Amino acid sequence: MDIKAVYEKKYSHFAALPYYQQEFDFYGRQFEDLLKIIADQQCKSKSLVDLGCGFGMKTHIMKQYFGRTVGIDFVENIIAVNNLLSDDPKLTFKVSDLNNSKESEEKFDYIIANGLSLFNEKNIDLCSNRLEQLVDQYGTETSTFIIWSFTNHSSTAPSGWYNHSKEELNTWLGQIEQKHNVKTQVFYPYKKLRLKNKSVKEMLLSLYRYFRKRQYYFIIIQYGIQQSKG
Ligand SMILES: C[S@@+](CC[C@H](N)C(=O)[O-])C[C@H]1O[C@@H](n2cnc3c(N)ncnc32)[C@H](O)[C@@H]1O
Repeated sequence: MDIKAVYEKKYSHFAALPYYQQEFDFYGRQFEDLLKIIADQQCKSKSLVDLGCGFGMKTHIMKQYFGRTVGIDFVENIIAVNNLLSDDPKLTFKVSDLNNSKESEEKFDYIIANGLSLFNEKNIDLCSNRLEQLVDQYGTETSTFIIWSFTNHSSTAPSGWYNHSKEELNTWLGQIEQKHNVKTQVFYPYKKLRLKNKSVKEMLLSLYRYFRKRQYYFIIIQYGIQQSKG
């Protein structure tokens, strides 16, 4: 047996990383929930860009649903590592600073910003400007933009991470809907209790996540779909 070849194969893949399975279980589930509420689920023929992808594990988890996936981050080292760990030509990673306004050569059907600090900002107008800029750079007229984050709704930033209140999030989305006449929605994956076919441990975890103050959420902005009136 060629031991080196065995390990070369193993280490060429994200799944060899510690915590991959936990990320897969935790974020994979949330992402499946998200896809269920997006009307157009024919994603296998669609493209996805993951803005601020960091370690790329979530990008790798999400790519199974898409035809082509690109992860973007401004940290060169992590992008180099991510590209080494992707053995799939349909999953690539690129270095780019999302603060610069250069237009991307490639446009995407789905744009995800997962924990991107550019939206961890109290100033709603600034969030809106950044969103517009990113849609111009990476999107088309019919792209879906997804912001994936968490908040305890306290309007504070005790550790630097700004926790938008429900009112602030609603004001922001109202602003986007009015300006662009698009459909937006906020979805809290753990505010939907599913206890069926679960072990006691899983049930307790679900209940904990349900009642916990800090909640994960998705904001979904569907361009090209006009907001229904009334
Ligand atoms: C909180 S981490 C989230 C990482 C990953 N999305 C995840 O959920 O595991 C934020 C990431 O965004 C990247 N980032 C922040 N500002 C950026 C910018 N202006 N351009 C590109 N990447 C940026 C950071 O390098 C970091 O990897």
